[in-house]
Amino acid sequence: MTQLRVIAPFIALLALVACTKDDPVDETGETGETATEDLTWPEMDFDQRKAYMASDVMPPMQAAFAGYDAEAFETITCATCHGAGAEDGSFTMPAEHLYPIDFADFPTGDGADFMMNEVVPQMTTLLDAEPFDSSTGEGFGCISCHTAAE
Ligand code: HEC
Ligand code: HEC
Repeated sequence: MTQLRVIAPFIALLALVACTKDDPVDETGETGETATEDLTWPEMDFDQRKAYMASDVMPPMQAAFAGYDAEAFETITCATCHGAGAEDGSFTMPAEHLYPIDFADFPTGDGADFMMNEVVPQMTTLLDAEPFDSSTGEGFGCISCHTAAE
């Protein structure tokens, strides 16, 4: 009995430490940084998504876009994808400034191939998404960034 009374507070303390470690929200500290490592994209709140875009989406997308056209995409910014949404802070997608996709007259060429073979698959993985399924209209694809042409 005496032994249990001595041990119990330690168990409680251990549980507390383990709990704090697993809960990324508690790691949001004075630094203003938000730990997103343990969260999937759908689980993140708006501020966590903002931080994740900067830390995890920008570097591979910068590399991919520069690999496609080093001159045009020497430095991409949030506005490269978000357009006006990056300026007003809404980050709403799809983005009006991007080429409208006409599924009846689907774009072809190097730009479309780059989108199809690099941007879409990489972003699908980065955003913990399912690939676009045209039969349901669900999943990540061209019209997650581009508007659909009327
Ligand atoms: C390569 C394109 C790309 C770039 C660059 C990019 N984003 Fe995004 N962003 C997206 C896409 C696509 C979505 C929507 C994902 C989805 O369908 O849920 C998104 C969503 C977001 C969201 C969530 C919006 C919401 O309503 O939940 C935020 C916040 C965001 N981005 C911020 C940023 C910031 C900040 C930057 C720059 C550091 C940035 N993004 C750069 C493609 C991009
Ligand atoms: C993650 C966001 C995102 C997704 C998903 C996406 N695009 Fe794009 N797309 C962009 C951005 C950013 C640009 C460059 C805009 C610019 O030139 O500033 C672009 C440019 C283009 C262009 C013009 C290329 C050029 O050479 O000027 C075409 C065509 C295009 N996309 C087609 C597609 C197609 C088709 C898909 C689906 C297979 C797709 N995009 C998916 C963000 C996206």
